Amino acid sequence: MSFENKVAWITGASSGIGEALVYALHEKGAKLILSSRRQNVLQNVKDNCRGDTSNIHILPIDLAEAEALPEKARQALDTFGQIDYLFNNGGISQRSKVTETDMEVTRKVMEINFFGSVALTKTVLPSMIDRQTGHIIVTSSVMGKFGTRLRSSYAASKHALHGYFDSLRQEVHKDNIRVSLVCPGYIKTDVTKNALEGDGSKHNQMGKGQQHGMSPTKFAQKLLPKIEAEKEEIYIGGKEIWGIYLKRLVPTIFNKILRQMEVT
Ligand SMILES: NC(=O)c1ccc[n+]([C@@H]2O[C@H](COP(=O)([O-])OP(=O)(O)OC[C@H]3O[C@@H](n4cnc5c(N)ncnc54)[C@H](OP(=O)(O)O)[C@@H]3O)[C@@H](O)[C@H]2O)c1
Repeated sequence: MSFENKVAWITGASSGIGEALVYALHEKGAKLILSSRRQNVLQNVKDNCRGDTSNIHILPIDLAEAEALPEKARQALDTFGQIDYLFNNGGISQRSKVTETDMEVTRKVMEINFFGSVALTKTVLPSMIDRQTGHIIVTSSVMGKFGTRLRSSYAASKHALHGYFDSLRQEVHKDNIRVSLVCPGYIKTDVTKNALEGDGSKHNQMGKGQQHGMSPTKFAQKLLPKIEAEKEEIYIGGKEIWGIYLKRLVPTIFNKILRQMEVT
């Protein structure tokens, strides 16, 4: 499937990776639904799009509000009558030791990163099955493939996405629905600033990795051809991507290396 005249719903569209996807998909002629909590920022993103923006719709959602999500997904479906691409991209990170992390923080990270994506997908999926077409894209992370210090809840939420969406992929392949799990490395966004500390407060510091990471624009440029090629698992980033292969091939050595590395 190419993106022209297709409908793409992007969560986390107000900044970083999601924002860059909005610009790239708009350039490719897609009809877009932009979602996140901050309606005014979504409006800015829409205003930044060049040319005709009449096919860009804003739908504010809070992924932490589980009960409201099915209705939001129905509204998204009604916007253009269908959804061809669902980008489950909105998410939040965490920076705190296990012993210093409140249960509410772990639950909140799971709620936004995992249950939020699940709820939207479950509501959109029947219409994709009816139409026998669709593509669900999930922004995981390298933390969906291994864990490091200070990211237990975040890594757990991203690992959970792999289990769920790998299973879904098997169920819906016969319905011509594709599922792609995307594992970014360090991408230069505010993800670390927006991360939660153990007491639920905002971390407010730019991560060293992100500071020197790939630009979200370049990330989006690299991602979209891989989506068009229907890749099932996608790794985009710098050297940190090697961790995925090391974990797979030499897990004990890799864990030793990780223990010795500085983690911020
Ligand atoms: N940047 C990286 O290095 C990196 C690496 C691996 C994975 N990722 C993943 O990439 C995705 C996008 O993150 P980013 O790097 O672009 O960071 P970001 O700039 O912080 O963007 C996060 C997006 O998620 C939205 N969001 C956060 N909480 C939400 C909630 N409760 N309800 C609805 N939307 C919410 C935010 O919008 P509002 O504040 O307007 O709600 C924002 O649009 C995330 O899933 C993240 O885990 C990022």
